[in-house]
Amino acid sequence: MSKPRILVTREIFPEVIERLSQHFDVESNQDDVLWSDAELAERLKDKDGALTTGTQPINTALLAACPRLRIVSNMTVGYNNFDVAAMTAAGVQGTNTPDVLTETTADFGFALLMAAARRVTESEHYLRAGKWTRWSYDMFAGAEVHGSTLGILGMGRIGQGIARRGAYGFGMDVIYHNRSRLTPELEAECRARYVSKEELLAQADHLVLVLPYTPASHHAIGAAELAQMKPTATLINVARGGIVDDAALAQALADKRIAAAGIDVFEGEPSVYPGLLQVPNVVLTPHIASATVKTRLKMTQLAADNLISYLEGGLAITPVNQ
Ligand code: DGY
Repeated sequence: MSKPRILVTREIFPEVIERLSQHFDVESNQDDVLWSDAELAERLKDKDGALTTGTQPINTALLAACPRLRIVSNMTVGYNNFDVAAMTAAGVQGTNTPDVLTETTADFGFALLMAAARRVTESEHYLRAGKWTRWSYDMFAGAEVHGSTLGILGMGRIGQGIARRGAYGFGMDVIYHNRSRLTPELEAECRARYVSKEELLAQADHLVLVLPYTPASHHAIGAAELAQMKPTATLINVARGGIVDDAALAQALADKRIAAAGIDVFEGEPSVYPGLLQVPNVVLTPHIASATVKTRLKMTQLAADNLISYLEGGLAITPVNQ
């Protein structure tokens, strides 16, 4: 019997390609060419499965062009590239990679929080530019992190990881808002208190966004929300671009409506709203919150395991539709 055929849409770890090749007839993209939607459809039309990086839209048009397709396995936890309803209607299984990147992403959320609040990159640029001529009492004085109020919008696994870091590591008072409230046990474990979105915006010294991107969370933080935050506050986004209105954020940073921001994800990335590049009080990183070698390998292996299990007659390990 011939092996199922799969497409790996972007460059991934060679050892995972090797493992996939033991199970499948693999077409890979180790030259990491950015295929157009039409080229992706052309390559995928005779495949049974795909391993994707969360950047290729899996929508009605693509599904219609790929009648053999049975599974699309994202090597990311976010799956806003999937039209889940269309995939379900077409009988295509979608999978993602929860859990394996939780702690790594929470680490990075904290790294951005620290860097933005304590003005790490802004002061480094100053030093590198040769502008440092003397010590002074208020040079790059930032906001306190320990003992401050940490706000978290979106309290899934990553939000809980950030809460634990803040509460246990930095003695922060942790407040959160989420579609649904955590159980009392989880709230106690995270030392986190549920508040309304308005209270969250008004009380947080540092607000971290970790909610999924859906039509409902589009521009959840815009000019009106930024206006409700403290002028000394820091905003961190390690979730998805599109949750923040980047133009409104750039304006709020320029006007010092809020003190600082740390942003890892952008609407329309890899393009970055030009206004954000102009303001000094923001730390900008290219969507790397889960990027440690170990974690990216685990994400890729889980994506491969989903394909192997499903295409060899088992269940998807981490399905996003049933
Ligand atoms: C994820 O896994 O969703 C990360 O954002 C990487 O894309």
